[in-house]
Amino acid sequence: MKKKVEEIRFSAKPQAAFSEVKHRLPMLSLENGYHVQDVTDFDERTKKFLRDDTSIDYTVEPEIDGLAVELVYEKGALSVASTRGDGLVGKNVTPNIRTILSVPLTLIEPADGKPIPGLLEVRGEVYMETDAFETLNRDRIERGFPPFKNPRTAAADSLRQLDPRITAKRPLNMFCFGIGEMSGPKFSTQQELMIALQQWGFRVNRPYIRVCSTISEVIDYFHHLEETRDQLPFEIDGAVVKVNQLDLQAKLGQKSSSPRWTFALKFKKTEEEIP
Ligand code: IVH
Repeated sequence: MKKKVEEIRFSAKPQAAFSEVKHRLPMLSLENGYHVQDVTDFDERTKKFLRDDTSIDYTVEPEIDGLAVELVYEKGALSVASTRGDGLVGKNVTPNIRTILSVPLTLIEPADGKPIPGLLEVRGEVYMETDAFETLNRDRIERGFPPFKNPRTAAADSLRQLDPRITAKRPLNMFCFGIGEMSGPKFSTQQELMIALQQWGFRVNRPYIRVCSTISEVIDYFHHLEETRDQLPFEIDGAVVKVNQLDLQAKLGQKSSSPRWTFALKFKKTEEEIP
């Protein structure tokens, strides 16, 4: 059985170079700030832009410290996986992404959920859990290789290997947090979309995604994440706040490089993190 899984997941042959992939929709960046006032300002800006008294819910979730990737599924099968690159064009890392066991190669049709879209672009963060990172570093030191500085640099090094057999030996993981293009099913909220992604087989950070109906709830959850971040199995650098209602996300649209419906409130850097 093990052999069969490996045959499906690992293409085994090293690539000569990474080809380029143009994202159908740009992978934008995330506006951010380090002060609670910044997220309060974001809330006020958002309400002012919508110019009515629609009540807004926000989803709040940890900002995982890893690398953004996009996975393209056609008729439920993974066809291409790419890095964010400059947001317009990324590198084709499909053979490497296929080695990550939490990335589904084919999607599951739920018995009581939305059907699998013909085209689905899923975005998320590839990262390394802290324990796995420490084990990897201990092993590297024993074998005379330099240790990685942190889980993010270890994940980045693992993803940029031309030989997927090397990537397969690295303990990479992935959380999905959004979509690019999608044909077919319609959703009303970010939360519903996350539930559908999970039903289709993606790994979603559900236990840590909160829906908040006021900005003070958002701020409370941000503080909770900040206080408990050391107990999490992965490194996080803040909280990502997203307007939950997808019709409001669409009305808000985007500025030149970032959507207006999301904001990352970052933890202040500790002394060791300041370069
Ligand atoms: S949503 C417009 N959700 O953080 C981009 N991003 O600092 C929407 N990230 O480029 C991204 N965890 O790579 C989102 N839960 C999360 C995230 C997350 C980590 C990354 C993502 C983004 C970067 C910005």
